[in-house]
Amino acid sequence: MSTHDDDFPTDDPAVVTCGLPYANGDLHIGHLRGYIGADAFSRALETLGQQTAYVCGSDMHGTPVAVYAEQEGVDPEEFALEWHEQYEETFPKFNVEFDNYGHTHDETNTELTQEIVRTLDEEGYVYEKEIQVAYDPQADQYLPDRYVEGTCPYCGEKARGDECDEGCQRHLEPGEIEDPKSTITGNPAEYRERTHKFFEVSEFSDFLTEFLDGLEGTSNARNQPRQWIEDGLQDWCITRDMDWGIDYPGEGGEDLVLYVWVDAPIEYVASTKQYSERVGTDEYDWEEVWKDSGDIVHVIGRDIIQHHTIFWPAMLEGVGYNKPRGIAATGFITINGKGLSTSRNRAIWAKEYLEEGFHPDLLRYYLTTTGGLQQDVDFSWDAFQEKVNGELVGTVGNFWYRSLLFAYRNYEGTPEADVSEEVYERIRDAIAEVRAAVNDYDLRGIGQAAVQLAQFGNEYIQRHEPWKLTDDDPETAAQVIRDCVQLSKAVAVLLEPITPDKSQTLWEQLGEDGTVAEAELEAALEAPPRNFDEPGELFAKIEDDRVAELNEKLEERVAAASDDEETESDDTDADESSDMTDVDDLEPLAEERISFEDFQELDIRVGRIESAEGIEGADDLARLEVDIGFETRQVVAGIKQLHDLEELPGEKCVLLANMEKAELFGVESNGMILAAGEEADLLTTHGDAEVGEKIR
Ligand code: 2FM
Ligand code: ZN
Repeated sequence: MSTHDDDFPTDDPAVVTCGLPYANGDLHIGHLRGYIGADAFSRALETLGQQTAYVCGSDMHGTPVAVYAEQEGVDPEEFALEWHEQYEETFPKFNVEFDNYGHTHDETNTELTQEIVRTLDEEGYVYEKEIQVAYDPQADQYLPDRYVEGTCPYCGEKARGDECDEGCQRHLEPGEIEDPKSTITGNPAEYRERTHKFFEVSEFSDFLTEFLDGLEGTSNARNQPRQWIEDGLQDWCITRDMDWGIDYPGEGGEDLVLYVWVDAPIEYVASTKQYSERVGTDEYDWEEVWKDSGDIVHVIGRDIIQHHTIFWPAMLEGVGYNKPRGIAATGFITINGKGLSTSRNRAIWAKEYLEEGFHPDLLRYYLTTTGGLQQDVDFSWDAFQEKVNGELVGTVGNFWYRSLLFAYRNYEGTPEADVSEEVYERIRDAIAEVRAAVNDYDLRGIGQAAVQLAQFGNEYIQRHEPWKLTDDDPETAAQVIRDCVQLSKAVAVLLEPITPDKSQTLWEQLGEDGTVAEAELEAALEAPPRNFDEPGELFAKIEDDRVAELNEKLEERVAAASDDEETESDDTDADESSDMTDVDDLEPLAEERISFEDFQELDIRVGRIESAEGIEGADDLARLEVDIGFETRQVVAGIKQLHDLEELPGEKCVLLANMEKAELFGVESNGMILAAGEEADLLTTHGDAEVGEKIR
């Protein structure tokens, strides 16, 4: 949504960034979704005439890298650099073209990070505090972040030291995780006192509230953080007991490195600086963008909203820098309806996609027009085939090819005629739709405007049947084909952010000079050259047997991975369990037994759902009213995406009535509705148990 008075394009330079990938493993569709989305958005801004740099870099530090490097017995720097180089090679293969791609361990970022932290310190926003830090006595080391696992103090889910990635998604501070266990030895960790540096985020509450009021982007990024501010912001521990990272620059932190989340977003600035230094500040001035009035847009995963809407703007404000104009937070990716899991090999890998010989623009089209910048995306080869064959082959490709072929055969190019008013207006409308979509951070809208234009073109040809007119009414035939050639060019221009390579080929087929990437939207209305050569088809149908083969390969490797015991331990994704009765996919049975008395303490009741509605601003949460005989309880449950809420009223359910109260997104939850598995299959009773009856 656009909240700024000045729509894009503005007179200021813009920068688009995308969440830095941890340099620790192969890229897959979950990564690509963000990088492609941000690349398309940045290209779209350029088609509006907005001066834009698209920058990113590899995230080299922190435990996400250190833990993996250790597992491989490699030095973290060497390990991370190897992945960094691989990422640099891979992105262009998906037409993801960064203006600069750096990494957080390079000199630019190291110096800038230390300078920013020093400034925060000088401004009085950094202080020292003694805190409890998890420690593994056997390994004789402190356990920052991913070196420790336990229970989230906010939602009770299993969590890592610094994030509740399977539950409420909150950032966790050192010492917060309950029942800490070392991931090095598997032993319970103990808490020891250590002195660390803190950034006074709590000082920025008012600033952040105002910042969010003016923030553009996707609704999840603009709304979710309000609750965290209302709940009261905690100061943020910015140092860690580790060797790998950027050294804390000030006094009293000589043996500490900076928390990875301090230097990672600073790479957005460092990478822009590198770009600026390469092209010259006359062409693009990083300081104008970051310290003055540039338009900063971050595209991130929805799991890192807190870092980008709270910590990061507070840091920027603390050093007097400019703030983000827009933040777009992308949803998750599922594969065939199940959670993407690298350890279960339930993923579409970047390398694999390319090796299968598919053009990158097909995936770009699928991802951007399915999920835009915000929605969750389910990928299946079947859905991919349907979208490619239906929209790209059937609508766009078909229109392009039949128009250009007809034009070439009958006129050796663009017929000498004027574009009709109807077509001119239709193209102008499509341009306006794209402008509005870009200002609304609506990538799907961009794709839709282009494809609907091609659809209009197909209907236009059918309506005028130019092949019947060439002899009897050559003038009208020429005008109709002139219109179609113009429409073809317009579709190529409008679709360029999403399918840059295919649009470029069409551009060349039209005999145009230069690149379509440099063309602005108005080029869609400019006449193409008079002559062009015989065109070729730009998209090919994906056949059913190809899809069957791809499905089989995917199934086989998921099955092979679940057979492979080793993979279980390194599962780092938010997994969804399989609905097959494959025990390898199930959470292991608890070893510890509880007494009958313990069980009796759980007051579990039969309930009946009276109402169910989604909670605004929360992607997954629903507010339910549940009748439990004695009273009606308000309960918050993470089922918004998993159930048709309208169908729930009247359904019997099972409710843990003496669950302690909690507040989620400002809504009190008074009890917990019981459900099985990742799909939240709601528990119920099947006989005539009355509402309110206790489950024993
Ligand atoms: O969550 C992640 O994958 C992080 N590597 C993202 C960092 S984004 C930024 F702040 F630099
Ligand atoms: Zn949690």
